[in-house]
Amino acid sequence: MNAGEEKSLQLFIRLLTTAATNASLYALEHLQVQRLCRQALQEANHLLGLHETLTFKVIDGRLIFVNQPVAVNLAVQRLLRALQLKGISHLQIESGVYAEELIALVGLLSKRHSQQQQVSDSEHIKFGKVVVRHRESGQLAESAFLQLAQIADDELDKFMEIYDSVRTNKQLNITGINEIVNSFINSFSSQSDAFLAIAPLRSMDEYTYTHSTNICLLNLAQARLLGIEGPLLTDIGIAAMLHDVGKMFISPNILGKRGALDDEEWEIMQQHPVLGAEYLLNTPGVPRLAVITAFEHHMRFDGAGYPKTRRPWQQNLCSYMTAISDTYDAMRTHRSYEESLSLKEITDVMLKLSGSKLHPQLTYGFLQVLNRLDKSRATAKQASKIS
Ligand SMILES: [Fe+2]
Ligand SMILES: [Fe+2]
Repeated sequence: MNAGEEKSLQLFIRLLTTAATNASLYALEHLQVQRLCRQALQEANHLLGLHETLTFKVIDGRLIFVNQPVAVNLAVQRLLRALQLKGISHLQIESGVYAEELIALVGLLSKRHSQQQQVSDSEHIKFGKVVVRHRESGQLAESAFLQLAQIADDELDKFMEIYDSVRTNKQLNITGINEIVNSFINSFSSQSDAFLAIAPLRSMDEYTYTHSTNICLLNLAQARLLGIEGPLLTDIGIAAMLHDVGKMFISPNILGKRGALDDEEWEIMQQHPVLGAEYLLNTPGVPRLAVITAFEHHMRFDGAGYPKTRRPWQQNLCSYMTAISDTYDAMRTHRSYEESLSLKEITDVMLKLSGSKLHPQLTYGFLQVLNRLDKSRATAKQASKIS
């Protein structure tokens, strides 16, 4: 697949999944959904100029387009998950496809379409269904895993809306954040390990959203390990969700720059903890813990890091936990799946940093969480192989 075709394919998938997200949040008739579908149709027609039919297959948890694996990102993961939830293993779009057919496909991929509803072919869109074999335990484990992943997606949608509103109106919806964190905590209680396994599956795309969700899940796991419950647990989750909110005030050119930042850019980047803390301080209803965590999350255990403060400075527990989750997330998401570090390598790096950059006892606790996470991912993988 050449670069132009790859770009067009990725855009098509992104338009389709964004339309499905919007259809879930609003309705299929919403103008935004219709607009995205029209754009998706343009891309589909462009691809149909290169291939007789557009064939998508789900094989071994990967999306295959015209016999080639598609590079994974958030949109591709969402399409995969939506197809898997509906038991679709094969999707074929043929030349001459109408906008109405694509809109119906978007409806099918959205959460408005229940798993029980019929999936039927249209004139130019054909589906192939997985033959369900009954291997109870494996199947159950996999479907629980998929449902949990879906919950995380719902929360992500809400969170994206909230962050967008910060960007545009500079007004934060703290109730929304509260709801997200509480729904995480509830899901956590019922499906602790499987839920935890979702965190590292989030990839490079839409970095700030996914990063904040990851840090929230990882902080909640750490806090629960310490026996923290109730309102403090919620506050720790909220603080994690908002720790990088100051980045909303940094230029996207600096945030998204590939390669190293120069001195001036680095100095601007280092302002995000203070900018975030100031912003949260002036937002009604935000827990104090979130203000402190935004301010302190780049301070190191040994007192170095930024922002510079008077010495001695006693950091909050939540700031230490956030620094640990942050370090881990950076190691996972700045690399592609193929290159990602093994658990052993991550453990080695984190142990080396404990006592200097990171709080040592909390780091040991976190490494226990990682071990559990690794085991639950292995179980989920096993489950998807069995079914
Ligand atoms: Fe940060
Ligand atoms: Fe961060």
